[in-house]
Amino acid sequence: MVVLSFAIPAVVFLAAALVFAASRRNEAAKAEGHLSKETLQRDVSADKSDSDDTMPAQVTGKEVERAAVIERQGGKELVVQEQAVPVPWVAPDEETVGIARRQFLNRSIVGLMGISLSSFGAACIAFLYGGGGGGGFGSKITVGNVTDIQARIDAANGFLYVPEGRMWVTKYPAGSVKKAEATYSGPELAGMRSGLVALYQKCPHLGCRVPECQTSQWFECPCHGSQYSRVGEKCGGPAPRGMDRFAMEVKDGVFIVDTGTIIQGPPIGVNTTGQEAEGPNCISESSH
Ligand code: FES
Repeated sequence: MVVLSFAIPAVVFLAAALVFAASRRNEAAKAEGHLSKETLQRDVSADKSDSDDTMPAQVTGKEVERAAVIERQGGKELVVQEQAVPVPWVAPDEETVGIARRQFLNRSIVGLMGISLSSFGAACIAFLYGGGGGGGFGSKITVGNVTDIQARIDAANGFLYVPEGRMWVTKYPAGSVKKAEATYSGPELAGMRSGLVALYQKCPHLGCRVPECQTSQWFECPCHGSQYSRVGEKCGGPAPRGMDRFAMEVKDGVFIVDTGTIIQGPPIGVNTTGQEAEGPNCISESSH
């Protein structure tokens, strides 16, 4: 009994030690892994061939790694692309750069000159032939509604200046139209019958711009003292006739003046309105 009491724990202890040692071996084997069947066969055949050589083969670590990679790839060797060799920088040719710069400057200068000449030509053409559609002097100008124009003339104390037509627009008295019909042409009468007359600002004497005189209610030229009534008929001075005027028309109550058609003023002595100076003259005889 005494022997059994010592033998049984000893056997149990030894069995436990064997189980522990076996489990450790298994863990070590799992950690290390194991070679495949094919590898083992290759090793055996390699060993056989090596045994025939007098010197053992020297295998480097890189070769072992490469063999393992090839095996993982299923026997295919990786294709490693070669890196492109950087092209060294070469300075551009000075002569070539100089030619390109000169070409750019020459073409820029020629282009700018072409644009400038084209603009200048277009401006000349517009100046010479563009009067018909631009609404400026030389074309038909729509001054406005007759009633509105008469109101504007009253507001301007008898004289309405229209700069785009270089003209004065004044009222023509309805009571004088019958007398005017004996002197004036149709294009003039078209305006006069509506109560308006469009006068060219240029003095028929030597071409000065004729201003209005608010006090006399006449036109009085500062250059040589020619005087004209409010409707442009000559009252005094060296002018050879009354103020020139434009062809006029009225359409649907709208007053239109054709500044491209200048009609010579009435002869000396024509006085259809009989208007006398309504106050002091702006230009006296003694000032000339
Ligand atoms: S230019 Fe008007 S009077 Fe001579």
